Amino acid sequence: MGSVIVSLFVAMGAAAAIAAEHDALFRKMVDQSRKVVAEFVGEVRRQLQKELDLSGPVRSIMVCKYSSPEIAAAISRKTGWRVSRVSLKPRNPAMGTPDAWEQVVLAEFDRRVQKGEKPENVEYAEIVTEPLGRYFRYMKALPVQPQCLSCHGPAESLSEAVKLRLAAEYPHDKAVGYRPGQVRGAVTIKRPL
Ligand code: HEC
Repeated sequence: MGSVIVSLFVAMGAAAAIAAEHDALFRKMVDQSRKVVAEFVGEVRRQLQKELDLSGPVRSIMVCKYSSPEIAAAISRKTGWRVSRVSLKPRNPAMGTPDAWEQVVLAEFDRRVQKGEKPENVEYAEIVTEPLGRYFRYMKALPVQPQCLSCHGPAESLSEAVKLRLAAEYPHDKAVGYRPGQVRGAVTIKRPL
C-alpha cells in the first residue's frame, strides 16, 4: 500500500518534470518567434518609411507588394518556419488569407482589443496537431498606426492616386477603412516540431 503511494508520487514527480521541461521549451519557442516577428516587422517598416519619405504612398505600394513577401520568404528560408502576414480583410487574397486556425485567432485578437488590451501586446501561441504533423504556431497582431492610413485608412485618408493604383492592383481589396488602434492583421509563424 505504502509503496503504491510512493510510486504514484514518483510518477507524478516525473510528469511534473516533463511539464516543466515542456513549458521551458514552449517559452523558448515563443521568445524565438517574437524575435523573428520583430526582425520582419522592423525591416518592412524601415523600407516602407524610406519609400514613403522618398516618393510617397503610390510608389510605396510596391514595397508592400514585392519587398514585404521577399523579406518574409528570406526569413522563412533562414529559419525553416513558415512566416507570413494574414488578415480577416486581406488586400491580397492570394497571399493574406488566413487558414481556419488563423481565422479563429484573428477574431479573438479583435475581441481582446475591443475589451481593452493594447493591440501592440496581443499575441497567441499554441502547439497544434494537424493531419501532416505537429506544429508550434504563433501569431502577433499588427496594429494600425498613423503610418498605415494612407493605404489602409478610411476613404478620406486615401489620395485619388492611391485609390486608383489599389483598384488596378487589387480588385478584391478589403483592407481599407481601418482606424488607428485596430488590428490590421498579424504576422503568423508555423514551425514544424
Ligand atoms: C503605401 C501603401 C501601404 C502602407 C502605407 C501600408 N500598407 Fe499594408 N499593404 C499594402 C499593400 C499594397 C498590401 C498588399 C501586399 C501584397 O500584395 O501582398 C498590403 C498588405 C498588408 C498586409 C497583409 C495582408 C493583406 O491585407 O493582404 C498587412 C497585415 C498589412 N498590409 C499591414 C499594414 C500595416 C500594419 C501598415 C502600417 C504600419 C501598413 N500595412 C501600411 C499597402 C500599404
